[in-house]
Amino acid sequence: LDGVDLVVVGAGLYGLTVAQQAAERARARVLVIDVRGHIGGNAYSSMDERTGAEIHRYGAHLFHTSNPRVWDYVNRFTSFTRYTHRVYTTHRGEVYPLPINLGTINQFFHAHYTPRQAKELIAGQAGELAGSDPSNLNDKGVSLIGRPLYEAFIKNYTAKQWDTDPADLPAGIIKRLPVRFDYDNRYFKDTWEGLPVDGYTAWMRRMAADPLIRVQLDTDFFDASQPVNRDAVVGRVPVVYTGPVDRYFDYALGDLKWRTVDFDEVRYPEADHYGCPVMNFADPDTPYTRAIEFKNFNPERRSSQNPGETVVWRESSRAAGRGDEPYYPVNTAADRALYHRYAAKAGEEPGVVFGGRLGTYAYYDMHQVINSALVAYDKRIHPMLTRTDGQ
Ligand code: FAD
Ligand code: NA
Repeated sequence: LDGVDLVVVGAGLYGLTVAQQAAERARARVLVIDVRGHIGGNAYSSMDERTGAEIHRYGAHLFHTSNPRVWDYVNRFTSFTRYTHRVYTTHRGEVYPLPINLGTINQFFHAHYTPRQAKELIAGQAGELAGSDPSNLNDKGVSLIGRPLYEAFIKNYTAKQWDTDPADLPAGIIKRLPVRFDYDNRYFKDTWEGLPVDGYTAWMRRMAADPLIRVQLDTDFFDASQPVNRDAVVGRVPVVYTGPVDRYFDYALGDLKWRTVDFDEVRYPEADHYGCPVMNFADPDTPYTRAIEFKNFNPERRSSQNPGETVVWRESSRAAGRGDEPYYPVNTAADRALYHRYAAKAGEEPGVVFGGRLGTYAYYDMHQVINSALVAYDKRIHPMLTRTDGQ
């Protein structure tokens, strides 16, 4: 470990942001390790040679933010395309726009409601359970947007997402169900959105380009047979750890629960199968929740894509075991309580900062994880790196 001022565990966006800042602002020599064979964490993507599609290997990733510091920061490493995210859903043989908007409502009710009329209709339908406290997800959904829209577009989709009958799901899973009383079906309301012009991996590589940053792949922080492991490093060199917090403590307090996603690849001998990048499936007779057609994220690359083939990934969700990729924190009250006990232990680890989605048991979008890394760098990591030698 001679010549290493900071060890970063995890080459995802949190780890790379910290490494980049440490090299640039503290002139620290940073060693980034990752157990995987590539950088980028879950935002990693790679080119599919047969179709020319950029496949987001851990699920579709769309960048969006309203945070000027994050937007300026990411633009140092990549430009963004003009991609605007829009999602459609298939229900009983028809395709509707999402999120539920006036177009969805008028198509569903075969009507030409004005915004005011649609608002009155939905308010009336949502009043069905007025005065009762929703005890499960079905009641909550009905109380938010009325039974017809809830049952068509939310109920069975959510059942597939959670692999559970919504009558058995807690009402608290859904806080709100946005309904738009105009025809705007832009998925994100953020100031900026887009996809990295030459792909996610090129973006991440530029974040690690500083010669002070060394990246070592296929390296597990808990493998005691390799030199950069927990027991050899902690207390000797500052560490930023972005792996699972329960794993760090050998699951001593129990396992934090996650959901994972399985991807099933399908290829079609045609230019375009869905006509959009993301098609949801609202009905129970389609076993997967949604299909991602990666070519359609990058229409600006049409001339380099193969017009004779397209690649689609169908997603289905289930509870994660220890060997699965943890994707979404289950986040029940019991999980939160367990996480807080782990967080207390984490606070006592000498010279270790826990960060990122796995290190803090949180669902973060990319812009949020970058922001939290920038803030943690300012407040906790920079002082650690400049403390003794006053650099
Ligand atoms: P990660 O990217 O998970 O990086 C952590 C890294 O730590 C991994 O590379 C892992 O291999 C490594 N690691 C773990 N354990 C060890 C160990 N023992 N030793 C060494 N290395 C280790 N965000 C958006 O903004 N827009 C989206 O559209 C979007 N879609 C998403 C879709 C899905 C299906 C998922 C799961 C997430 C999505 N996100 C999206 C969120 C985005 O993936 C995260 O915000 C971001 O990847 C988090 O970065 P991170 O560095 O915290 O974690
Ligand atoms: Na480098």
